[in-house]
Amino acid sequence: MRKYRVAWLPGDGVGKEVCDAARLVLDAAGFEADYLDGDIGWEFWRTEGDALPPRTLDQLRSTDCAFFGAITSKPVAEAARELAPELRGQGLTYRSPIVRMRQVLDLYICLRPCRAFRGNPLNYREDIDLVVFRENTEGMYIGVEFPKVPESFRAEPAMKRIPVDAAISIRSVTREASRRIVEAAFQYAVKNGRRKVTAVHKANVLRATCGVFLEAAQEVAARYPEIQFDTANVDAMGMWLLKNPRNYDVIVTTNLFGDILSDLCAQLVGGMGFAYSGNIGEKYAVFEPTHGSAPKYAGLNKVNPLATILAAKMMVEWLGETEVARNIEGAVADVIERGAVRTYDMGGEAGTVEMARAVAAEVG
Ligand code: IPM
Ligand code: MG
Repeated sequence: MRKYRVAWLPGDGVGKEVCDAARLVLDAAGFEADYLDGDIGWEFWRTEGDALPPRTLDQLRSTDCAFFGAITSKPVAEAARELAPELRGQGLTYRSPIVRMRQVLDLYICLRPCRAFRGNPLNYREDIDLVVFRENTEGMYIGVEFPKVPESFRAEPAMKRIPVDAAISIRSVTREASRRIVEAAFQYAVKNGRRKVTAVHKANVLRATCGVFLEAAQEVAARYPEIQFDTANVDAMGMWLLKNPRNYDVIVTTNLFGDILSDLCAQLVGGMGFAYSGNIGEKYAVFEPTHGSAPKYAGLNKVNPLATILAAKMMVEWLGETEVARNIEGAVADVIERGAVRTYDMGGEAGTVEMARAVAAEVG
């Protein structure tokens, strides 16, 4: 195995504990890497006015991929209050580091597998095995927002329908970004023996943006006659996922819908303790548990590290170490099925470290 270079970004709150847990498993599985600690998180916002300093982005560019824990983010006013005094009043605004990494590094795929491991007491139903492909660079996440309608917008006749004091968020959807995320979903389906891809939209209301997405999805789907293709409105999809989760296989959608649906799908298979993500571009990727920094649990050796351990599995798989990935996922499946070690969310008493050790023992 070649020795990889991994940017190690535990971040805030429980981020460090869950990343340490994943390291324990990576080491036990024989995965070899130089781990480069990177500065990211709330502390750097407070002291430097930037939660993702340029030196960290440079470091990402010099590594094979990054492993990210979690980051605290707070509403605008609170964020401004916590800034170091000398940085206040300069118009600095807090921007989510994970959203920035996705956009700056063009990590256009947000891949979120949701599998019901046998024996997980939190499974909503058994045998659920879904994968969400969320567009990761545009849509409602472009960060173009106005607290009220800018004067220059008022020349456009349709803008007159908007009250002057309305706040506005812009949603931008391009044909190219839509095409490549749907293409990625189909390629994944072919490679992993998946039977069906469902494109989720709201084209009956968001005619312009979802129209572009839906058209692109239909064009791509036509090139994969061997894979079933269907489409669904996002509201109905929420309902169908609860009613018949086993009818779905690969789901592909725009950024915000993917954010929402992937939490729903995560809950079908045990909640945030089991939800992990790959933010994947052409040449670089950032892997993370989907959960946040859970400040109230920080330092308590309490949270479930399985999401982070599964993110590590996805990382080694992406790097091409399929055998190591299989071992890690197999060890997670065994520990869950046996049921002797369970964290609090699963109704047990094991801590973060005990769960990580149980998986590491199985993998080694
Ligand atoms: C996620 C999270 C992020 C998002 C937040 C932390 C900005 O909810 O990864 O799903 O909205 O994408
Ligand atoms: Mg989310």
